[in-house]
Amino acid sequence: MEMESSGLSQRFAEWAGVRPAVFSAPGRVNLIGEHTDYNDGFVMPSAIGLGTRVAAAARDDGQLVIRSEQFPGEFKFDLDHPPLHSTGSWCDYVLGVAVVLQQAGHSLRGANLWVESEVPIGAGLSSSAAIEVACALALMKLNGIVMPMAEVARLCQRSENSFIGARVGIMDQFVSCLGKAGHALMLDCRSLEFDLIPVPERVRMVVCNTMVKHQHAGGEYNRRREECEEGVRILARWYPEIRALRDVSAAKLAEHEKDIPETIFRRCRHVVEENERVQEGGRRLRGGDLSGFGQLMRESHRSLRDLYEVSCRELDVMVETAEGLPGYYGGRMTGGGFGGCTLNLVEATHAEVFADLIAGRYERAMGIKPAVYICSAADGAREILRG
Ligand code: GLA
Repeated sequence: MEMESSGLSQRFAEWAGVRPAVFSAPGRVNLIGEHTDYNDGFVMPSAIGLGTRVAAAARDDGQLVIRSEQFPGEFKFDLDHPPLHSTGSWCDYVLGVAVVLQQAGHSLRGANLWVESEVPIGAGLSSSAAIEVACALALMKLNGIVMPMAEVARLCQRSENSFIGARVGIMDQFVSCLGKAGHALMLDCRSLEFDLIPVPERVRMVVCNTMVKHQHAGGEYNRRREECEEGVRILARWYPEIRALRDVSAAKLAEHEKDIPETIFRRCRHVVEENERVQEGGRRLRGGDLSGFGQLMRESHRSLRDLYEVSCRELDVMVETAEGLPGYYGGRMTGGGFGGCTLNLVEATHAEVFADLIAGRYERAMGIKPAVYICSAADGAREILRG
């Protein structure tokens, strides 16, 4: 990444006439713990080597000017009167961060920002969190704002919740800020305490993009969240102390199956069992039990498909298609679902062959050529070139 920032910095200098500072923030995969973060539960993501870079320099006229080579348009906003809700363009992910920084009481100078992203959009690899986090670091630096990385993650989540209107949890922004090379980050999404668990070196994370795009701001993601909240409201009649599905055990839930509408029950069951799978997954990964971990990934996928209903035909085919391939330990859809990518744990020595074979199998089954990335766990966001 460092090497490539020189091209970006040069293009920026030609555009804006000054040398920029450059910041990078990674996309992520989630090994296990899906749709648990907004239920105060547990997740286990890793940052990956695909990331976003932002080149930035201050302007004197109070304008925020945003552009990119991947995405269309050049956008200019007056920071004294910025829009307070999404404008419907990609630049919202940048603008939203500026707006929440202002709402948090920081005054911002004008800035030129040039965004360059290699995270595929709408593929469930957190392209939006990567843009938000890289831009947050850039705006903080230009304005002398210092805050802990966990706070940066919360701020970016707030931008997505209040500015974009997607009620996402904290996982993506958190791991983009605090991921560590060679590790998965097991995060308690209530306390934000986390453990770094080494991902054994002999394994690779093979990410397979179904090429079906998802859309979070759209209804289904938010609806799942409401269904979970409904489950908590019903269960609180018997257990007034519970605040989120995180506080519900499988036994408590099972006792009230007949009191809960069928769909809501299935949603709750996924979350409660998925939280248990993350705990068990942490033990297995630490113990080097990759086959055991792979088994939990398969169970997680089935649960997301049948109970939580956020998978789709293409994701299911990609997961089924991996079975029996050389070096495969297990896999599942990763991220919010409704399209996007699967994550496969594969023996490093077999990763290339696995990637070729799964691409061929998927293309034959679906008539779509997938993109496949062989990834390792990478570091979180940072400044990569001083201005
Ligand atoms: C998206 C959201 C996350 C999380 C996942 C599902 O990636 O941004 O907060 O809810 O979906 O686990």
